Amino acid sequence: MASLTIRKLDDAIKAELRLRAAQHGRSVEDEVRNILREAAGAGAISGGTPFRTATYPDRSTSSQNAGNLRATLIIGGGIAAYKALDLIRRLKDNGFAVRCVLTNAAQQFVTALAASALSNQRCYTDLFDSASEFDAGHIRLARDCDLIVVAPATADLMAKMAQGHADDLATAILLATDRPVLLAPAMNPLMWANAATRRNVAQLQRDGIKMIGPNSGTMAEAGEAGVGRMSEPLEIAARALEVVRPPSAGPLMGKRILITAGPTHEPIDPVRYIANRSSGKQGFAIAAAAREAGAEVTLVTGPVGLNDPAGVTVKRVESARDMLSEVEAALPADVAIFAAAVADWRVANRGEQKIKKTASGFPQLDLVENPDILATIAHRTERRPPLVIGFAAETEHLLDNARSKLARKGCDWIVANDVSPATGIMGGDRNTVHLISKDDGATDGVRVDSWPAMGKDEVATHLVAQIAAALQKGAS
Ligand code: C5P
Repeated sequence: MASLTIRKLDDAIKAELRLRAAQHGRSVEDEVRNILREAAGAGAISGGTPFRTATYPDRSTSSQNAGNLRATLIIGGGIAAYKALDLIRRLKDNGFAVRCVLTNAAQQFVTALAASALSNQRCYTDLFDSASEFDAGHIRLARDCDLIVVAPATADLMAKMAQGHADDLATAILLATDRPVLLAPAMNPLMWANAATRRNVAQLQRDGIKMIGPNSGTMAEAGEAGVGRMSEPLEIAARALEVVRPPSAGPLMGKRILITAGPTHEPIDPVRYIANRSSGKQGFAIAAAAREAGAEVTLVTGPVGLNDPAGVTVKRVESARDMLSEVEAALPADVAIFAAAVADWRVANRGEQKIKKTASGFPQLDLVENPDILATIAHRTERRPPLVIGFAAETEHLLDNARSKLARKGCDWIVANDVSPATGIMGGDRNTVHLISKDDGATDGVRVDSWPAMGKDEVATHLVAQIAAALQKGAS
């Protein structure tokens, strides 16, 4: 019988064998033995490690049932690539078979070996790979899946996508696909804020590309923080499932809901601002509950340290005026809920440079009133959402103030809560609210429902249930 030495095989085959051996936890020799036995119909090596390659459902058997889903995961070259390894596991937990593609830059951060070991699938790196391109492998990777996830999606990769480049395997797949694409951007906050990235993001959104994040937080670069952190693997995996299996039922199915949340930051100069203690938790919880109920949700939030709720379109803004423009841009909506603690005033004479201490006294800050977003939308004659809900955070005379706010702001409901420091509501996880609504049957035209103290998530679920009931009633 002819003798065969692995050393004599060509390099591409050796590399492939090493990869498969690592994937299956065998020596290269055992891997070769196994391949030969399989070819001869003998099955797995007796007494050896069982053949562990996960099956990758083919197109004919794949349906969008959990457990039979297929994702191509493109790992871009950024420090967040290490989180993409955890994402493989999370996607698998959500029922996806995962095939990984690593860009050249990604291989500086994670190895193909790690990606293939975790996915139990061969990992792809090269557009001109003789082992897969003989049958147009990039087309298979682009189409033989239910979804393509790009994580981390770097500024460079997004720029190439926006322009339609296809000069490596990842971009060729992205150009050749007819499947939904979900990007999880990750980059330095200045890169994310750069005008070129903003243009590319807007283009990709127009092209129907879905995005999750980025979140705000600290960066790998020492001392840097801001918007640019990749969403957590759990969030990305949840969103991936949602993209392939959108919620099919729920009382708010087909309704568009707009929510504001968090504080606003009103600049004093380039480094200082006026803000308040709002955490955004209540508004985010309402957004998540509305999405859960099947609504299409847009959340416009001031600066907060919270992650995007799955399936919600999140617009992150700084100032009241930015918040108003994003709110206007999100109309029309069936319901608008204004949970943001918008700063009442902004500085009229903000410094273009950092204001310095002088011996001659204190700087004079002139304040001007911010637009009232709730009142602006509630008083619109065109495209006024049929149900407009405001919040009243008060430290005294809660119900009286809330009733007069209902009339003054022109909204339909007010969710009133006492935010005196003793209640711990501002920044806390619990809330005690009163729902105040216009009611022609009541003696003073107003109905007050006082809810017991509950978690902000429960307040959100209750509010969403009331909204669904009101829309149902309005429709009947
Ligand atoms: O007047 P006050 O700030 O107490 O009103 C609270 C309600 O009005 C909240 O629903 C808040 O989101 C909204 N609001 C707004 N724009 C402002 C001030 C408040 O939308 N400039």
